Amino acid sequence: MRKGFTIWLTGYSGSGKTSIATELYRKLIERTIPCEILDGDVIRQHLSQGLTFSKEDRCENIMRIGYVAQILSKHGVGVIVSAISPYKSARDMVREKIHSFVEVYVNCSIEECERRDVKGLYKKAKTGEIKNFTGISDPYEEPVDPEVTCYTETESIDESVAKILACLEALHLIG
Ligand code: PPS
Ligand code: MG
Repeated sequence: MRKGFTIWLTGYSGSGKTSIATELYRKLIERTIPCEILDGDVIRQHLSQGLTFSKEDRCENIMRIGYVAQILSKHGVGVIVSAISPYKSARDMVREKIHSFVEVYVNCSIEECERRDVKGLYKKAKTGEIKNFTGISDPYEEPVDPEVTCYTETESIDESVAKILACLEALHLIG
């Protein structure tokens, strides 16, 4: 059976996680690799409905996403997770449980994310309308030794995706 894997994209809101996930998904499908995206924003409308952005609930969210990623990748699926996943301990816990876990740090400065403010959330976080906002009023613990780092301020989405595909090839997870 095909070997499954999990690409775990972590980074600030607006750093480019969803954009990279979407393009990576397209490229994997093109190569006829079965895959699935688990996006934090979407998961929070379904599996994690009702969870808040407290440390405890964020960790619970990551554990739920990790569980789904684990069972899918066990059956040969290439799972692409895009979730802020701000706590190192939670990311390390899912890494322990999932075989062929590839952590991708979607690196973008908080200033640039604030400038992009695609959803207008940073503006609301700044005025205090949204509390516990990652990078503004809540922590983000940078990955220490990720398999891949994408610099979305200087790289194009295609360049970031190419780096991830090259890593998957080097690990013999895709042909
Ligand atoms: S976490 O920390 O991993 O559980 O977060 P995640 O499940 O990825 O959800 C992040 C999306 O929720 C929206 N949002 C917030 N993000 C951060 N902090 C606060 N307080 C918050 N409130 C709402 C936001 O749209 C995030 O989506 P992305 O795609 O990261 O921008
Ligand atoms: Mg997103």
